[in-house]
Amino acid sequence: HRHLLGIEPLKPHEITAILDLADEYVALNRRPEKHSDVLAGLTQINMFFENSTRTQASFELAGKRLGADVMNMAMQASSIKKGETLIDTAMTLNAMHPDLLVVRHPHSGAVDLLAQKVNCAVLNAGDGKHEHPTQALLDALTIRRSKGRLHRLNIAICGDIAHSRVARSNLILLGKMENRIRLIGPPTLVPGQFAEFGAEIYDDMREGLKDVDVVMMLRLQKERMDGGFIPSEREYYHRYGLDADKLAQAKPDAIVMHPGPMNRGVEIDGTLADDINRSVIQEQVEMGVAVRMAAMDLLARNLRAERQAKAG
Ligand code: CP
Repeated sequence: HRHLLGIEPLKPHEITAILDLADEYVALNRRPEKHSDVLAGLTQINMFFENSTRTQASFELAGKRLGADVMNMAMQASSIKKGETLIDTAMTLNAMHPDLLVVRHPHSGAVDLLAQKVNCAVLNAGDGKHEHPTQALLDALTIRRSKGRLHRLNIAICGDIAHSRVARSNLILLGKMENRIRLIGPPTLVPGQFAEFGAEIYDDMREGLKDVDVVMMLRLQKERMDGGFIPSEREYYHRYGLDADKLAQAKPDAIVMHPGPMNRGVEIDGTLADDINRSVIQEQVEMGVAVRMAAMDLLARNLRAERQAKAG
């Protein structure tokens, strides 16, 4: 592949290859001397048109740990504010010969569109409600390391599925790896069309959590609810907030995940989120750096091979 725009085009063996390489980068990142130069001589530009803490910081660290020259575009201070379009901005940067472009954008499909216009590899860091492929890959790595496998697990994805690119990418990835997926939430946030992904839908959280191996919580994405139904936080927490009592329905060794940013007391109890015996939220962040290193390493190999073939 030239780009990483979504999980959709990836085959199961390609997902496994990314996770295997990411495992090697987890080991490297834990060593006091963290040195690799697989991206030396390459330029990585990060363009975030939407807020980010984890994804932006981990892509930057990942590029630096692999020896790339990394530039973070301050989109709030860019000429986008003067009316320049996304494509004109991308073409301007393309003329500076970057090798890797990491892009987050509020509109679904914007990153795909941009990838068609530039000569470098593009990594989707989240586009609207569409996909967030590196998030699904880091979640998969966290599950595989915690459970020892990434197939035939019962996995519950809970909360605001309708507005979540994280849920979409995870549904695609975990489905490709032959897991059984349950979607839990109120019907307004879990539209019936999600059954197309082969998932079972529950609006009763306790019933949905019965005997699951993995509980993945999601944030209420009010910024994407534009005028639609917004549940009251109190009522939502009562019915769909994960606490120790509801978690007791899951397997005793079930893990609790959250992609972040989390809203304590809305979708998850703060004490449970901090419980290192159940919560793997910090591991997810650690895996994020390794997965992004693996993804950029593999795309850079393809890019170099393509350029060598062209050079003849
Ligand atoms: N999980 C995630 O994408 O977090 P950020 O929005 O902070 O990057």
